[in-house]
Amino acid sequence: MTGNRTFTMIKPDAVENGHIGAILEKITAAGFKIVAMKYTQLSLRDAKGFYAVHSERPFFGELVEFMTRGPIVAAILEKDNAVEDFRALIGATNPAEAAEGTIRKLFATSIGENAVHGSDSDENAAIEGSFHFAGREVY
Ligand code: CMP
Repeated sequence: MTGNRTFTMIKPDAVENGHIGAILEKITAAGFKIVAMKYTQLSLRDAKGFYAVHSERPFFGELVEFMTRGPIVAAILEKDNAVEDFRALIGATNPAEAAEGTIRKLFATSIGENAVHGSDSDENAAIEGSFHFAGREVY
C-alpha cells in the first residue's frame, strides 16, 4: 500500500535564486495539497541530523554547509501515491540527468545544489515530516 504524503524542502540555492513561487506553483499545479509549510533556516545540528544517513559520504561536509547557508521552505505534501509522483515531478538527483520539465531540470544547478528535496519512501516521508513539524502544525 502506498502512502499519500511526502516531505519536501526548497533548498537554499532555489531560495537565493528567487524560485520559491515558481516551484510552489509547479507543485500545486501537479495536484499536491500543502498540509504543512514553513520558511526556516537549518542549524548545523539540524542538517547533520536530517542527513545522518549520508554521514559517511564524501560529500557530507559540503551538503551540510550548503543546506545551512540560507533559508529553506519545508513542506508536507498530500496526494495519492505522493512519494513516487513527487520524485517524478522533481526529476533525477543530478539535474544534468533530470527529464525535461522537471523541477530540477528547470531550477537546479548541480548534483549538490539541486533546488529541492523529495522523500524516497513512505517511511522516510513520515520521519522527515516529523523532523520539521509538530502534529499541530499539520493541517
Ligand atoms: P537529496 O536527494 O535531496 O538528499 C541528499 C542530497 O545529497 C542530494 O539531494 C544532494 O543535494 C546531495 N548529493 C547527492 N549526491 C551528491 C554528490 N555526488 N555530490 C554532492 N552532493 C550530493
